[in-house]
Amino acid sequence: MSVLSGKKILLGITAGIAAYKTATLVRLFIKLGAEVKVIMTPASKDFITPLTLSTLSKNPVHSTFYDKEDENEMWNNHVDLGLWADYMLIAPATANTMSKMANGTCDNLLLATYLSSKCPVYFAPAMDLDMYIHPSTKESLKKLQSFGNVMIPATSGELASGLVGEGRMAEPQDIVSFIENDVLSKLPLKGKKVLITAGPTYEAIDPVRFIGNHSSGKMGFAIAKAAANLGAEVFLISGPSHQQIQHSFVKRIDVVSAEEMYEAAHQHYKEVDIAILSAAVADYTPKNVATQKIKKKDAALEIQLSPTKDILASLGKIKEHQYLVGFALETNNELENAKSKLKRKNLDAIVLNSLQDKGAGFATDTNKIIIIDTNLNEKTFELKSKIEVAKDIINEIINQINA
Ligand code: CTP
Repeated sequence: MSVLSGKKILLGITAGIAAYKTATLVRLFIKLGAEVKVIMTPASKDFITPLTLSTLSKNPVHSTFYDKEDENEMWNNHVDLGLWADYMLIAPATANTMSKMANGTCDNLLLATYLSSKCPVYFAPAMDLDMYIHPSTKESLKKLQSFGNVMIPATSGELASGLVGEGRMAEPQDIVSFIENDVLSKLPLKGKKVLITAGPTYEAIDPVRFIGNHSSGKMGFAIAKAAANLGAEVFLISGPSHQQIQHSFVKRIDVVSAEEMYEAAHQHYKEVDIAILSAAVADYTPKNVATQKIKKKDAALEIQLSPTKDILASLGKIKEHQYLVGFALETNNELENAKSKLKRKNLDAIVLNSLQDKGAGFATDTNKIIIIDTNLNEKTFELKSKIEVAKDIINEIINQINA
């Protein structure tokens, strides 16, 4: 999955011949799962039509502050457009537009939007050789980068004028790859490895029966996705769960029993930076597993159980550089129990969910949590979808690590 999947990209097109390539650019972004809106300088419409771009982006294309031909004359709010975007790309960026951007000129919708935007801005210069090497252009490029804008360098080759040299806009596929790599390299968990346990465990009684619990794995899978989306390499150790995950940064390791989960967690623990143990691990397992199916009898059946290994506590004991997070699912004395668990298991943080809260805990799509850190500070979150809760947990861990 691309880092641009689900992202909102605002493409600003200016009046260079390379504008014709922006049709491909829009298609590539859409193919990666991004949403694209296009704004054009009025002159760029001589190079590619708004109709082409609105058809490909499936969004209206704007070039003026209001649409004169539209009888409703809706104001195209540059502030809203700027705030909508996760990333803004100006391609092609002509010498004229770059000079205006560098000097805060604001005489069209694209420039007003650029000045209003709060997101990362990329620009892909395109112009003739002599314009590209002119000191005033060089000055604009320098100034724009000093503002934090990211340049996607022009390449060398045959230019529209017939001259050969630097000034060609990077090819659409290269622009997309450039942005993907840049976004990836700046993700807060880039280079970090994260271990996550999720789901229930099944403890075999005989070849056809087991002791299990109602954990769906939703919370752990959502955490895995949230961490991967922020650049982490994730080892997701999952007990039997119907959850699916498709992410190139997530390695799913399927296990069945508490013992298998223990082994898998210990196998990866040394190499990870963060470990989040959200699995609902069985506390007891049948002492002896019958090799044949146990036959029905009139007398009561007794199954002797022995305790499983506490994975979280065992990782707490051998903790070195890892940031270790546990979960506590409590029904009473919630805060007290969670805090004592945090200390007892040598954790850096514990995520508490109380079964007294409606919509929290097992097999729901929502959760309500309190995160407690080593100083016993409590941070309470609203009832949210597990996807949003997972983002809160990961962001809180990042804040704590960077504090
Ligand atoms: N956990 C674990 N291995 C186990 C049991 C629990 O890794 N064998 C982890 C869970 O994944 C969770 C945390 O420990 O992160 C809390 O589990 P919980 O069962 O609530 O805590 P216990 O220590 O078992 O305490 P109690 O049952 O008394 O609440």
